[in-house]
Amino acid sequence: MARSPSPKNAGRLLHTAWTSIIVDIEAGRRRRMESLFPPESLPARFVYSFARGFFMSETNRWGVATLTLHAGSEDVPGRSVSPAIFQTSTYRWHHVQDGLALSSQEAPTEFYARWGHPNGRQMETIVAALEGTQAALATSSGAAAMTLALVPWVGPGDHVVLGRTIYGETRNLVSRILGRFGVRHTIVDSPDSAAYESAIEAATRVIVTETPANPTLDCVDIAALAKLAHAHGARLVVDSTFATPVNTRPAALGADAVVHSATKYLAGHSDVVAGVLATDSEAISRAWDYLRITGPVLGPFDAWLVTRGLRTLELRMARHNANALAVARLLEKHSAVARVHYPGLTSHPAHALARRQMKGFGGMLSVELHGGEQAGLKFASRLRLFVPATSLGGVESLVQFPATLARITEQERLASGIEPGLVRLSVGCENEADLLEDVDQALAS
Ligand SMILES: Cc1ncc(COP(=O)(O)O)c(C=O)c1O
Repeated sequence: MARSPSPKNAGRLLHTAWTSIIVDIEAGRRRRMESLFPPESLPARFVYSFARGFFMSETNRWGVATLTLHAGSEDVPGRSVSPAIFQTSTYRWHHVQDGLALSSQEAPTEFYARWGHPNGRQMETIVAALEGTQAALATSSGAAAMTLALVPWVGPGDHVVLGRTIYGETRNLVSRILGRFGVRHTIVDSPDSAAYESAIEAATRVIVTETPANPTLDCVDIAALAKLAHAHGARLVVDSTFATPVNTRPAALGADAVVHSATKYLAGHSDVVAGVLATDSEAISRAWDYLRITGPVLGPFDAWLVTRGLRTLELRMARHNANALAVARLLEKHSAVARVHYPGLTSHPAHALARRQMKGFGGMLSVELHGGEQAGLKFASRLRLFVPATSLGGVESLVQFPATLARITEQERLASGIEPGLVRLSVGCENEADLLEDVDQALAS
């Protein structure tokens, strides 16, 4: 979020202005570097890490774990190492006249908590640093983050292109809510870039995609879609909830905006509902205007929980990546299994793309058994360590049946590639051997 310095503190104001200029320059430089040296090939990786040392500031050189532990720590007033929680809705002014100056700032952190607060600011600073975007905006849920990514950019007569498999409420947002205000949309019928291209119209303003997608694990080529979107004057919005910035950084590949359900991996402990939008400063300004007016803010304690979760994001993702790959490989070899959807398997149709675009393949997978729905139900209900529950991305493993969830029609479900027997696993951070034993016993006939 653009900073909002206090008029009482000229030194801080200058520091703030200077910092945001540096952040903007660094973000642009980093994007240019990454388009010159995409991290696919070994020589490119060597050149990249060498060049990084020369051209990037400390913050831009830091790895994920360092960023999550140190970025934004100066944003929270006070000297405590664990940030204080600013559980207040409003802030005392020095003089009653200060209200005018504070209320005319963008996202002041010490005015009124719907406008911003220190805990939200810290979370936003960390996420923007992780995603390599100019700014970020914390929201009360992932659904709210998607709403703020889209609403400021479309109006009557505009058109939105949606990925084949997309979170159900994102589809509902576009079809049922934006549709009421005259926004049209097309849902593509395949994850291939060509399908997106043929859906684009002159009035297309935004392409919305999800990769890997929930729950089919479809992967789309972010760099190709970004080029396509920009060639047609549209924006590319990527829901990167499944990937996390540990595995994929969509902005570095050209995406204009990145959306997360922070409820999932970013917070990581199934104890908070939260979202975040990471994008350029102008888009954040527009999103903040809608946030202030419509009110889907994240409370201070919830922002604090996300910030605490972020501190172990890289550690957790390494474990999620390894555990899910092991479970996927076990499932694929089993005679009871018809199909495993996991981008880390060579059998996944977009495995080559996933290798290019992802550092690890994530903790989510889905599986279809011979014997369809009944066999899937039996398998899911025999699992002992995988808790039957909705949501995903927490440290504990979860299992669910996407076809049994309400809110999308059967026709929409089938068009999204969700078979009735599809079982979705959110593979947690338990010990790998225990998870494998559990899956194995649940498959035994
Ligand atoms: C991929 C994806 N995006 C967005 C959302 C919405 O997030 P939230 O529940 O935090 O609003 C979800 C929720 O399951 C999701 O799986």
